[in-house]
Amino acid sequence: MIELKKISKIYKRGNMETVALNDFSLTINEGDFVVVEGVSGTGKSTLLNIIGCVDKPSAGEYIFENDAVDYSDIKKIELLRKEKFGYIFQNYALMDKYNLYENIEMPLMARKIPPRERRKIIKESLELVHLSEPVRKYPNELSGGQQQRVAVARVIAMNVPVILADEPTGALDEKNAEDITDLLVELNKKGRTIVLVTHNTDMINRIRGGLGDSSNYKYVYMTKG
Ligand SMILES: Nc1ncnc2c1ncn2[C@@H]1O[C@H](COP(=O)(O)OP(=O)(O)O)[C@@H](O)[C@H]1O
Ligand SMILES: [Mg+2]
Repeated sequence: MIELKKISKIYKRGNMETVALNDFSLTINEGDFVVVEGVSGTGKSTLLNIIGCVDKPSAGEYIFENDAVDYSDIKKIELLRKEKFGYIFQNYALMDKYNLYENIEMPLMARKIPPRERRKIIKESLELVHLSEPVRKYPNELSGGQQQRVAVARVIAMNVPVILADEPTGALDEKNAEDITDLLVELNKKGRTIVLVTHNTDMINRIRGGLGDSSNYKYVYMTKG
């Protein structure tokens, strides 16, 4: 499904160059649960951004669903971003000015899904993450664990095949971290491909336990350069 071939990413600022990824190759099959670990600055977020077509590699080839990603085709890139990838971040990344309902609704509106259907999708996704807070509440009225549940509900509602999670439990207490991890395992069992960046060994063990032996678990350890 995802094939990264000798991908490099070099950030240039003035005459300063930072090598975020160097000749990095990785194959991810549909339904894989990929755990990415590595110390700070080894290109983990860069990797997710390249997979999600948010960022463009400096060199190398990215093949998604058997097609080489063509970065000059902006329409296609936007379509890929919108329809194929959903993000979950450490800081939840909800829109403060919108209530919980609207936060989940936004990507559905972008896809021109009619209001009635949106309502149904949002209700179902909120049930899946076990969030019973009033949907008119704003992000700043929710705890971290509740906000991350909304972020997961948003990704569920988007119904994308690939979920990119960048340290999603990094700011949560243990109980909430476990709940979010369990939700990701459930989503993977339902067929979503997941790429998760985490440093939390307990959560990694929890994922392995939750997935069982027959799973498509993959582990990637990132190193500098
Ligand atoms: N937009 C950017 N501009 C310049 N340098 C960047 C940018 N994004 C990341 N980097 C640099 O690239 C390297 C890898 O960053 P990142 O992918 O965020 O690593 P990680 O997520 O593993 O901590 C770091 O040295 C970082 O400072
Ligand atoms: Mg990072």
